[in-house]
Amino acid sequence: MGAPLGGASVTVIQGRNYINGEWRDASETFESVNPSDIRETVGVFPASGKAEADEAIAAASAAFPSWKRLSRINRGEIIDNFAQLLKRDRDELIQLCAREVGKQWNESYADVIEAIHMTQFVAGYARQPNGFVVPSEIPAKDAYIIRKPKGVTVCIAPWNFPVAIPLWEVLPAVLEGNTCVLKPSPYSSACGYKLAQLLDEAGFPKGVVNVIHGGGPDCGEVLTHHPDTRLILFTGSFAVGQSIQQFVATDPIKFAACELGGKNQLLVLDDANMDIAIPAAVMSAYKTSGQRCVSVGRILVDRTREAEFTERFLDASQRLRIGNAMDRDVFTGPLVNEQGREKFERHNARAREEGFEVLLDGGRLTGGEHEHGYFVSPFVYRGEYRDDSWVLNEEAFSPHVAILPVDGLDEAIRIHNEVPYGLAAAVITEDYRKWRECREELEVGLLYVNLPSIGAEVHLPFGGMKRSGNGHPGAATLIDYVTHRTAFTVNHDHEIKMAQGLSAEL
Ligand code: UN1
Repeated sequence: MGAPLGGASVTVIQGRNYINGEWRDASETFESVNPSDIRETVGVFPASGKAEADEAIAAASAAFPSWKRLSRINRGEIIDNFAQLLKRDRDELIQLCAREVGKQWNESYADVIEAIHMTQFVAGYARQPNGFVVPSEIPAKDAYIIRKPKGVTVCIAPWNFPVAIPLWEVLPAVLEGNTCVLKPSPYSSACGYKLAQLLDEAGFPKGVVNVIHGGGPDCGEVLTHHPDTRLILFTGSFAVGQSIQQFVATDPIKFAACELGGKNQLLVLDDANMDIAIPAAVMSAYKTSGQRCVSVGRILVDRTREAEFTERFLDASQRLRIGNAMDRDVFTGPLVNEQGREKFERHNARAREEGFEVLLDGGRLTGGEHEHGYFVSPFVYRGEYRDDSWVLNEEAFSPHVAILPVDGLDEAIRIHNEVPYGLAAAVITEDYRKWRECREELEVGLLYVNLPSIGAEVHLPFGGMKRSGNGHPGAATLIDYVTHRTAFTVNHDHEIKMAQGLSAEL
């Protein structure tokens, strides 16, 4: 085993809520544990309920009028302070991420770097236009589009990118003058608590960003349903996203941007370079142990290349090093919790029940270095595509992969688009006509050619279609969605002249 991360702290973190610039407790607490070794408690955090959610929303509401009036450039400067602090504490954040959610060291590193990139992007964006000058039919009229904040914003973030994703949500919102309540996933509370400490140190005025911990409907639902909440930025499961969207549809003052799951696919076409296809497949399916929204769960491989692809993919799958996330030499760490492991097993069982041929019978890893963590090894199966299959259409969020032979590009595209999700896809081909056809026809928000389906950069829109999202991509492009657009028109003439030939005669 390679050297574990030096200096990893084993102190149990005593986390608190951050409300109105103050550190507060709740009457109940919960623990977050290290999924690589569940004997280790990472931290103890307040189990927030209605009272804490109400207080946090009240703080964000009170802070909104003065925060939105601050110059956008001043707001960006505070975000720049925060970028410096993320850099200062980079290694501590990496260790925390690896310990708390079981992301292998290099992936935890990438998560923190992605967070830094997002922060730099948003801070720099402060000096970009926040509106446009537009022409008018009347020469003496000046017309503008001005963007204005929506108001109190609830950010609900997942554990799988515990540093980057909360910041994808919070930073675009606060740059544009909104105030926020962030609820990190209970499985990444220590990361959320550390972010709260750095946000405090960066100098955000009290109440501009509030961070409360805990799970369950008590907290999330109070936040999203609160009458003062104007905007909900959610990244998580389809089921929760759907209920948020259904609720928002009943209340015209609320908006929601939902980044949901995926059943993402890799297309290995007849002319694929296998030296690209194999690492692309391994990274897409197994990085973060398949726990990315963009992880691949179906590989559509041209029938003429299936045998060759499968042999090499299985060989690589069997050779993966799976172990403690703090170990720099492993390829991937554990699943995040027992529910994740049970879900993986449910999917594996369904693949068998539906008659697919199991090629690699992955399951729980026990004993030795795996004894005390939620470790699993990859499960790979194959069969002819069937549109009525449950297992081929549901997200497994684990290293659970189907290999489906296809006859040519048209069939690959048709089968690809029958899945109810549409987040990311990757296509392996040397033929520009084929990748262009994929670009035009595949129903996804992110498409990669000769690359894995993972690793989007922050200045690209991140989001999908169908069950993967409601069309408001996250990361950088969220900056637009967190604002309303006001049409602002000024007359410089001494009389009124109307557009559209409308008479101004009284
Ligand atoms: C997610 O899968 O939940 O594209 C986010 C990527 C990362 C973000 C993934 N930049 O893999």
